[in-house]
Amino acid sequence: MVITVAQEKGGVGKTATAQSVAAVAADRGSRVLAVDADPQFALTRQLGLRVGELPVTLVDVLAGRVDAAAAIVTDVFGVDVLPAARELRAVELSLAGEVARETFLRTALEPVLDRYDLVVIDTPPNLGLLTVNALVPADLVLAPVSAEDEGAAQGTAELRATLGKVARLRGGSEPPLAVVMTKWRIDRVMASVVEEAVLGLGLRLAGRIPAQVLVQQAAANRMPVTVAAPESLAASAYRELTEQLLTEAGTVPA
Ligand SMILES: Nc1ncnc2c1ncn2[C@@H]1O[C@H](COP(=O)(O)OP(=O)(O)O)[C@@H](O)[C@H]1O
Ligand SMILES: [Mg+2]
Repeated sequence: MVITVAQEKGGVGKTATAQSVAAVAADRGSRVLAVDADPQFALTRQLGLRVGELPVTLVDVLAGRVDAAAAIVTDVFGVDVLPAARELRAVELSLAGEVARETFLRTALEPVLDRYDLVVIDTPPNLGLLTVNALVPADLVLAPVSAEDEGAAQGTAELRATLGKVARLRGGSEPPLAVVMTKWRIDRVMASVVEEAVLGLGLRLAGRIPAQVLVQQAAANRMPVTVAAPESLAASAYRELTEQLLTEAGTVPA
């Protein structure tokens, strides 16, 4: 199963969500690959990898220099990682002139897909070519919406429109889309306003992750919150979300 975490807005919890879902799934026994498709390489960094020390990354894979298998770093918090680097931005620009420019990532991942129960892809805060490449192989698109951000739900409508266009690259099928509310606070009026906007757009709400400074601290310490603070409410919400998504998909640990 491939879960792509996408949302046009930045700072909504895409990377935190990709990281935590990957870590939780690995912890419950799934074989997990985390793919960082963001030139800002936050997922790579927050999984503790040092970009300067990586001999090959997704940059080399998309440029056709190495196979995906050669760029995968194994067993980081139980997760295999296909890391990013800043040069992904240049690769994205060069892909624009290629035939099949939207399907490079799917083609690159194909040979390793059967090694994993779950592949989680983190994406940049835009709907450009890297994000489209990450949407093409998705079995589920998970869109974080920050409960602190009134306009956040609207970004998901634009993402949904992009999924309509991606369908033609997948034999006509649109990947299912689910929203996860992040930075959620029960006592904030804004949270319910945003939640109503999400539901008003006819979007499926798959879970709510509470706002907790521990999530930020874990990121600063380059760890998933589910590892850094497993007893926290945020970690427990990420466990619940991941269990639900994997159960629905019928993805059982090998
Ligand atoms: N549930 C949460 N509670 C508190 N802070 C959060 C939560 N989720 C994410 N953050 C923080 O919000 C910021 C943006 O999150 P991030 O995952 O990097 O978003 P994106 O990848 O969408 O840009 C980071 O500082 C992150 O630590
Ligand atoms: Mg990010």
